[in-house]
Amino acid sequence: MGKVPVITIDGPSGSGKGTLAQRVAETLGWHFLDSGAIYRVLGIITERADISVDCVDKIAELAANMPLSFIRSRTLLGEEDVSDLIRTETAGNAASKVAAIPQVRHALLEWQRDYAKPPGLVADGRDMGTVVFPSAEVKIFLTASAEERALRRYKQLKEKGLGVNLASLTEEIRERDERDSNRSAAPLTAADQALQLDSTAMAMDEVFQQVMQKVFATLPNLRQ
Ligand code: C5P
Repeated sequence: MGKVPVITIDGPSGSGKGTLAQRVAETLGWHFLDSGAIYRVLGIITERADISVDCVDKIAELAANMPLSFIRSRTLLGEEDVSDLIRTETAGNAASKVAAIPQVRHALLEWQRDYAKPPGLVADGRDMGTVVFPSAEVKIFLTASAEERALRRYKQLKEKGLGVNLASLTEEIRERDERDSNRSAAPLTAADQALQLDSTAMAMDEVFQQVMQKVFATLPNLRQ
């Protein structure tokens, strides 16, 4: 069997990479990996089990054995549907703490690579293009200013009827960026070959068009 083509879409939280990656995957009829969801689930179960982030081996063991599955658009932990729970700010922050542990990242590496199945994979995360799929055909790095990302998140939460404070949301996003960018294991950084896009002042449709242009230029056989 030939190599399965992979498109990686990395960037900070709120840059729009999740929605973009899903749309690209749907358009091409490819598989989709939301790697952030894996770290979010791990963050939740670590907190539930009341394990300190210093107990790295215990957390790596949890990572290697968690009964996580993605069924259609739902995220399941065993029988429990955790799809909504993992989208909270608490889960995002817990994820970013366990994600800084090298043993955890190592434990999840093959698991993530197994998602590369025909006809292709679109992988969304922080280190998809740099560490997990370094030989991906197309690499995208999507950013947006922290203020813009906080504002997008603020609007999303308000729509859901949740009371939030924009200033503290911006601060949390900054802290998470700082932790994700400065950790020693697989820090948030653009792969050398990545197409870098800043979505601060761009409509998501425009971002999508640019990404598809790059995809078709690199993989012309996909154009029907
Ligand atoms: O992308 P998302 O916001 O769901 O990711 C949650 C957290 O999981 C991030 O802040 C980051 O710390 C971690 N993460 C990671 N590597 C990935 C995906 C997510 O470290 N590939």
